[in-house]
Amino acid sequence: MRALSSLLLLAAAPLALAVKLEDFKTCDKAAFCRRGKAIAQRAGENPDWKSPYSVDPSSLAISSDQTSFTAAVKSSLYPEINFGLDVRVHKDGVVRVRMDEVNGKGKRYDEAASWALVAEPEISKDIRWTVGKKEVRATYGPKGNKVDVEIAFNPLVVTLSRNGRTEVALNSLGLMHMEHFRTKEEPQPTPEAVEGEESAQTVMEVPNPRSWFEGEEEDGYWEETWKSWTDSKPKGPQMLSMDISFPNHEHVYGIPQHATRLSLPTTSGEDSYYNEPYRLWNSDVFEYMADSTMSLYGSIPVMYAHSKESTVGIFNAIASDTFIDVAHPSAHSSYTHWISESGILDIFLLPGPKPADVFKQYTGLTGTQELPPHWSIAYHQCRWNYVSSDDVRTVQRRFDEENIPVDVFWLDIEYAEEHKYFIWDKKNFPDPVDMANDVSAVARKMVVIVDPHLKRVQSYPVYKEAQELDVLAKTKDGQSEYEGWCWSGSSAWVDFFNPASWEWWKGLFKTSQGSSDKCAWIESTTDVHIWNDMNEPAIFNGPEISMPRDNIHYGGWEHRDLHNLNGMLFSNQTSQAVRARTDPPMRPFVLTRSFFAGSQRFGAMWTGDNLGTWEHMAVGIKMVLSLNLAGFSFSGSDVGGFFGNPEPEMLVRWYHVGAFTPFFRAHAHIDTKRREPYLLDEPYKSIVRDILRLRYSMLPIWYTAFHESSVNGMPVVRPHFVVFPEDEAGFAIDDQYFVGSSGLLVKPVTEKGATEAQVYLADDQVYYDYFTSHAYRGAAKGRNVTVPAPLDRVPLLVRGGAVLPTRERPRRSSPLMRRDPFTLTVALDTAGAARGTLYLDDGESYGHAAGALVWREFTAARRGRATHVASADLAAAAAAHGQAPTANAGAGADVGVGTGAVVYDPQNAFADEVRAVRVEKLVVLGLERRPGTVTLGGAELEWEFVPGVASGAGKEGAAARLVVKNPVASIVGDWEIVIQ
Ligand code: GLC
Repeated sequence: MRALSSLLLLAAAPLALAVKLEDFKTCDKAAFCRRGKAIAQRAGENPDWKSPYSVDPSSLAISSDQTSFTAAVKSSLYPEINFGLDVRVHKDGVVRVRMDEVNGKGKRYDEAASWALVAEPEISKDIRWTVGKKEVRATYGPKGNKVDVEIAFNPLVVTLSRNGRTEVALNSLGLMHMEHFRTKEEPQPTPEAVEGEESAQTVMEVPNPRSWFEGEEEDGYWEETWKSWTDSKPKGPQMLSMDISFPNHEHVYGIPQHATRLSLPTTSGEDSYYNEPYRLWNSDVFEYMADSTMSLYGSIPVMYAHSKESTVGIFNAIASDTFIDVAHPSAHSSYTHWISESGILDIFLLPGPKPADVFKQYTGLTGTQELPPHWSIAYHQCRWNYVSSDDVRTVQRRFDEENIPVDVFWLDIEYAEEHKYFIWDKKNFPDPVDMANDVSAVARKMVVIVDPHLKRVQSYPVYKEAQELDVLAKTKDGQSEYEGWCWSGSSAWVDFFNPASWEWWKGLFKTSQGSSDKCAWIESTTDVHIWNDMNEPAIFNGPEISMPRDNIHYGGWEHRDLHNLNGMLFSNQTSQAVRARTDPPMRPFVLTRSFFAGSQRFGAMWTGDNLGTWEHMAVGIKMVLSLNLAGFSFSGSDVGGFFGNPEPEMLVRWYHVGAFTPFFRAHAHIDTKRREPYLLDEPYKSIVRDILRLRYSMLPIWYTAFHESSVNGMPVVRPHFVVFPEDEAGFAIDDQYFVGSSGLLVKPVTEKGATEAQVYLADDQVYYDYFTSHAYRGAAKGRNVTVPAPLDRVPLLVRGGAVLPTRERPRRSSPLMRRDPFTLTVALDTAGAARGTLYLDDGESYGHAAGALVWREFTAARRGRATHVASADLAAAAAAHGQAPTANAGAGADVGVGTGAVVYDPQNAFADEVRAVRVEKLVVLGLERRPGTVTLGGAELEWEFVPGVASGAGKEGAAARLVVKNPVASIVGDWEIVIQ
């Protein structure tokens, strides 16, 4: 059994066992999950199983404008209870299926979607609804891509099919259950003077007609005790169970955050890989395992299913504790079972049919990754803790002395007096504004932590104001302030669900005192940005290190209903607060540990307290890929590992991972040895310096990828199946990936002692080693090649067909590169062509929203015996094709085309500002022969040529390499270089 063998393996690794498993519930420790699982169990044992839920055909209503379908749903178990079903199709083809109890004894939490969605979706009127005797059908989409949504009446089953093939089905296995609100039945007095045997018989004689579905016992309906905590359940049982099947898809991805593979291993069924369902319950898991279904700090309930034929997805807008089983009943199908503690049924079906479509559909609902400030995609230096302002200055000085680039210095909790955030520990940080200004003097920033727990002392003005405003979270009585323990000792938590907290929170970040902001942070500057941690919320003495589920939030909702939203509301408000500090606003940077669907709109996340082990380094990559698919591209893991003291080899490899991760920050626990790159011995120090310089040289590529993601929802880092959706051999690959549409393919080494790496090439294309220009050749059916991977080199290939814009001059921080010249590397494909894009803006303001930006397209094409390399504005290029400019969606492979449009005037103020920025070098890889001339506008350029393998030759070896010096005067100019 694989599940068993994986457990045995874990037992052998001492670090992996450090997690206190007993601090967290497994499904069998949570009554609602036991009840949900039991339904699946009973269904599995009963060949005649049929869902008790059905649509009442007499209740059907299709709105007069044809936009929605509603119906009453009944359960044969409880005919007196009413459920209402509502199905509608959005303009982009997404289908929303909602169901709630109607006129019940209580109200289920129905607000998860309103926090997650970026806007109210537009409903399509272009739907044909057909009402049959046994089903209602909505049909839409063009011929050849026709989508059918069928709502079968008895039992209720919702199926989405494309061209007659089932893509996804809800309740096709009959596991749907919405536990309705009921009245607690008081226990019957035991009949006196009745013999035990007789009384047992009496009980037997009244069979419970619902037990085939719900079981005999009321398992934890009204109260539940776990360890020392008792969860009162005044509303009784509210579990929601739903099976979601993908009968034609073998791979499922998504539902971050879990430390597991990208293609989700099975959790149930014979020979399942894990024996626990994936869990979504935001948790501070100390020393988490590198291979587990346990919940971690954040939850994004989106899942994609993929096959060669199509990609489809679902977004389940639910914020309560959720367990998800995954099984593959047959080789080409996937089945999932979702069990949630509370909330309404609110599922969005994302019809695809390509990866790029599902990402667009999902981010259409929850928003795309917010375009971050440019400096925040450079390198961040953090540790718990830089202990004084002089310490910060020394660290900065050491970086500069060693010529190691860095953009941001971070302060962890020890800057704050007694962990009272916003209040400096003046003993060690006597001059916070001067310190921040010293850092900004070399165009750098600081990030300072602000956690959500407020120390409960009246002398702490932030706590006092929150109390006066009555915005603190309440205990189960709904009146008393909730008290728990965190870094600051006895603490209280702001209830960010309460709108009264929002303006007040903004005031706390103002760097000058306005009349209404009593607690403004005048000892800070607008170059100081924010880190939000512990926002699950982490509460050291609470159940599962968090809040009691029966705590009460604004609106009377219990914590259980909205727990997974808590972290997002905090980082949302912080990000708005940081944005509002200046007029005009500047882009905020806020790092969050806890998150939900939609958190990508508010900043970046990291994968929390990882261990300094090779396993954690490797799984961090998979986690970041999963987050990227789930819309949260700005993600990364602590470089070096949070716990432990990585040996130099591991640290170097970790820097390579970080340099190819969207969010790149080194961080370490307070008990670890200092490990800033300048402390390393040679050759490690120089290697890390070079890695950082590599990242900095590639910032234009990363920024372009971020921009693209902000426009069309494409992940910044893309696993194989995204780029090659029809190549089955790549569907499970999660240790190598592409950076945006750039064509860069990286496979970081995560093994000790490795000297080479196997890289999978999915297509019959030439790939060039980024460092040596060695040409490798893929194959139509995929092929592994061996790439050298000495410690100073990350396996990094450029797919033929790419044009890479880089900036090669080492600088201390990224803003100092703003006017640096570019190098363009043209990696010719097998047909001698290439294409790449470059996006630039001022990196800090919102000027880009008003069109202050540069967006270029570089192309190479063969005409006769000549190769033409050209640069054009994307707006102009698109206009020539009669379209709005769109982000490039693929590495030239089989990827859908992004449709996000950006409207701008190429002659804008920002473009003027960078007009003097030139292209200092053009490199062309894979030319067929030594050129006779290389000209621009008829004038000969200065060039060198080293003969080698041509892009179309089908051979491997050092590629032919042309280097043109100082070819053009402006990166924003239109030009054409002719190589003949
Ligand atoms: C949490 C964070 C970690 C931070 C520490 C102290 O463990 O995950 O990054 O350093 O708290 O604030």
